[in-house]
Amino acid sequence: MNINANAVRATAVTIYVPRDSTAIALGANEIAAAIVAEAARRGVAIQLIRNGSRGMFWLEPLVEVATEAGRIGYGPVEPEDVAALFDADFLNGGSHALALGLVDQIPYLQKQERLTFARVGITDPVSLDDYLAHEGYVGLQKALAMTPEAVVQEVFDSGLRGRGGAAFPTGIKWKTVANARAGQKYIVCNADEGDSGTFSDRMVMEDDPFVLIEGMTIAALAVGATQGYIYVRSEYPHAIAALNEAIAVANTRHYLGQNICDSGKTFHLEVRKGAGAYVCGEETALLESLEGKRGIVRAKPPLPALEGLFGKPTVINNVISLASVPIILSRGGAFYKNYGIGRSYGTLPMQLAGNIKFGGLVEKAFGVTLRELLFDFGGGTASGRAIRAVQVGGPLGPYLPESLFDTKIDYESFSAVGGTVGHGGIVVFDDSVDMAKQARYAMEFCAVESCGKCTPCRIGSTRGVEVIDKIVAGSSGGFDRPREVHLLRDLCDTMINGSLCAMGNMTPLPVLSALNNFPEDFGIEVEQEVAEQ
Ligand SMILES: Cc1cc2nc3c(=O)[nH]c(=O)nc-3n(C[C@H](O)[C@H](O)[C@H](O)COP(=O)(O)O)c2cc1C
Ligand code: SF4
Repeated sequence: MNINANAVRATAVTIYVPRDSTAIALGANEIAAAIVAEAARRGVAIQLIRNGSRGMFWLEPLVEVATEAGRIGYGPVEPEDVAALFDADFLNGGSHALALGLVDQIPYLQKQERLTFARVGITDPVSLDDYLAHEGYVGLQKALAMTPEAVVQEVFDSGLRGRGGAAFPTGIKWKTVANARAGQKYIVCNADEGDSGTFSDRMVMEDDPFVLIEGMTIAALAVGATQGYIYVRSEYPHAIAALNEAIAVANTRHYLGQNICDSGKTFHLEVRKGAGAYVCGEETALLESLEGKRGIVRAKPPLPALEGLFGKPTVINNVISLASVPIILSRGGAFYKNYGIGRSYGTLPMQLAGNIKFGGLVEKAFGVTLRELLFDFGGGTASGRAIRAVQVGGPLGPYLPESLFDTKIDYESFSAVGGTVGHGGIVVFDDSVDMAKQARYAMEFCAVESCGKCTPCRIGSTRGVEVIDKIVAGSSGGFDRPREVHLLRDLCDTMINGSLCAMGNMTPLPVLSALNNFPEDFGIEVEQEVAEQ
């Protein structure tokens, strides 16, 4: 639905209703229409802005009203609440059962450190003027005044590591591409976002697309690329629409295309829709797919940085990695590096999902504990039952039991307990979960999503499902449970050591963590399992 509220009086009260797909799924378009209709009926002048979501999903649709004191929130709003909100004088921040006070002061938001998400939920995502008014394109202007080597150095100095999962230092990747000699280089943004419970890429693309465009443009200047592609999963139609709209505006206003900001530099950017396979998020399978082929993982070397898209040097980075670049350039690498702990610098937009009371987006510096996220932000489970397990880092991440909830979220602390931070997705399960079913699901997921190139992953995952079924059936199904457990461990060992990519060699993580931490769900007596190990 397109609600054009630009033709309004200057004195009109500004109302914000999110256009983010979570808010839309919860009825934001109907709320926007109801507000416009009610204002017209009452002869009240309003300016309606479709902002991004603040990432507090239990409050969506969250309606905000601009007042002299700041933006006052009301939510979650139902269409039938709209007339009552007008009656309560919400246009002046009037009190109402749904009133939340100043949105910036809601603790969930106030406790965050929003750097990459600084504008998300605040601005009109597709308004370049709004973007410029909120520190937009300051990073690019600085980059244009620097040498390409200095831009790469600034990103290196920030300590930024890839947010797609592998946590590889972004500055080193860029330096490799910058040093490669080639007539054509590419910037590719990995927006396949296939991990379970993740949505931070989607939010950036829908709610602040210019920040990604700016980050990719800075990357292009830094490494000498003139063409970029954003590979977006097909399930994200709103993100694709917002990106295309923002790219068109950026081209018209000379922030993309030829002679960017009168610099003589060129960067063309296009969106490509993915084909709906989890493995197409793996960078080399993504490049194959982008070239129009079936998404099969390539052997490395050669690295994409040297022989990537169409065989040319290519920077391939996750959405959040690239969207973090503008603030690094605008405030400096040292500013960004000041956040975080150990060798995990900066912030991570974490996503609380699954059985959680207050699901949403929490951007915090590395070092926050899992427990703080689950309880201080998340408020425990939505079901009200105890949390039994948490899966961090997507479908290939292990299931973490309560004893590990005090682990700090940073790459080193997580790796020390056998965990993965991945893309920052946190999926919560309460004590009604059957962990044997979850282990089976991990193997099944691998069997369905495997690209099929190597045997341990393609065949091993199918055998894995069968072996888990036999373990669960145990002697009542005529199976020797200890023998099958031994076989499963052997199979996982083969997958870990014999698979070409993380799909095959990480699938054993959720399987083994379920088996080791929750043996009772497999019908295994704890003593027996310990003796087996
Ligand atoms: C099976 C599989 C799926 C992946 N899916 C994604 C994805 O959806 N998005 C992403 O950014 N990275 C994904 N990755 C990681 C990419 O291969 C790659 O590390 C990333 O795009 C590099 O960007 P970064 O350095 O900015 O993280 C996946 C990896 C594997 C093995
Ligand atoms: S591990 Fe699986 S997804 Fe990765 S290359 Fe091998 S078959 Fe393909």
